[in-house]
Amino acid sequence: MNILIVGSGGREHAIALSVSKSPRAEKIYCAPGNAGISALAECAPIGAMEFEKLVSFAKEKAIDLVIVGMDDPLVGGLVDELEAAGIRTFGPRKNAAILEGSKAFSKDLMKKYNIPTAAYETFDDAEKALEYLKTADFPIVLKADGLALGKGVLICNTPKEAEEGVKTIMEDRKFGDAGNRMVVEEFMTGREVSVLSFVDGKTIKIMSSAQDHKRAGDNDTGLNTGGMGTFSPSPFYTDEIDDYCKKYIYQATVDAMAAEGRPFQGVIFFGLMLTEKGPRVLEYNARFGDPEAQVVLPRMKNDILEVMEACIDGKLDQIDLEFEDNAAVCVVLASEGYPLHYEKGLAISGLERFEQEEGYYCFHAGTKFDENGTLVTNGGRVLGITAKGSDLKEARKNAYEATEWVQFANKYMRHDIGNTIMEL
Ligand code: AMP
Ligand code: GLY
Repeated sequence: MNILIVGSGGREHAIALSVSKSPRAEKIYCAPGNAGISALAECAPIGAMEFEKLVSFAKEKAIDLVIVGMDDPLVGGLVDELEAAGIRTFGPRKNAAILEGSKAFSKDLMKKYNIPTAAYETFDDAEKALEYLKTADFPIVLKADGLALGKGVLICNTPKEAEEGVKTIMEDRKFGDAGNRMVVEEFMTGREVSVLSFVDGKTIKIMSSAQDHKRAGDNDTGLNTGGMGTFSPSPFYTDEIDDYCKKYIYQATVDAMAAEGRPFQGVIFFGLMLTEKGPRVLEYNARFGDPEAQVVLPRMKNDILEVMEACIDGKLDQIDLEFEDNAAVCVVLASEGYPLHYEKGLAISGLERFEQEEGYYCFHAGTKFDENGTLVTNGGRVLGITAKGSDLKEARKNAYEATEWVQFANKYMRHDIGNTIMEL
């Protein structure tokens, strides 16, 4: 099969690695890809939102399967365009990707189908939101309705902060059109777990759980980022929690989407909070997580292409997902200053060792080759250093050791990825 992967981050690198292991894969392309992905796939300089170019490229290269890794093109309808051109595609159509694309949609869906989540109100109008917030309980959570790179969520501790938050989202429009509507949500507390799943429109199969670390600084300080590190599985995701989620959340979501005439084919990412009252859905994403994919996919035993084809063909019930009985930890190496201001173009060295060591992975997020062919940094999140181990503690030790192999001038990382598991 000829495969085209759409995206350019560590997640797409992890997908490309899994695809490269499939005996079905002949030629792999990635658009636009990055320096690391180019070792596994031929990268085409086409942006993920250049739909016409992607469709033409897929036709020209006789692509048998397109895998859309990123949220923006999914929410924008890339899958519909590729399908209209007769190209098989793994990922939800526009009418299903709205599960991630609109928080108001996903909250209304959960309410209508009794899927456990935080209580909320939706506002199109800043005045009405401000009026509501006068009598609300604090802390409270404000969320821009649309896609905002995981940054459109504001946790407000006081009425004054909430007032400023409404201004930021709806009036200053810091998150652009994502702020046309706003969801105001009850603040919940508990551990967070990311659960990724494959879905074929009616059947859902759950992957091994993971946990992300979203804040930029150690001990969960600093700004929210795309994710600074992950571990899998999450020891806090117990069998009891799994049973509850299977009963009230996973299949219920898939059935709700089908009942709404929006059958979902692809990956649903359940962002869960394990509250005292039980698991609650914080958010849905319509794709693999980044950097969750970097710890979940290397542990998956199945042929990823077989699973993805089963999703497209509505035959996921015939697949048994299997994961290795071990653990993985990913530590993101970022550029100092991320997620705000950081330098790009700094030379990276020390990656050779990953070729030689079994169970160690260096997933590229923001890298490129400069005009001299030198590998340089090209983004805030630069590399995802992942290692496996027989258990989480060993995986964590291995991953942190491997971060020492890599050098670049403004290398920055959190030092407490997976610290919570050390207490167990
Ligand atoms: P989201 O993009 O909706 O996952 O939100 C980003 C982050 O904000 C989550 O990972 C949580 O840490 C936090 N968050 C979102 N919603 C809530 C909530 N209702 N209560 C507490 N924290 C929340
Ligand atoms: N790591 C969180 C996300 O992919 O949205």
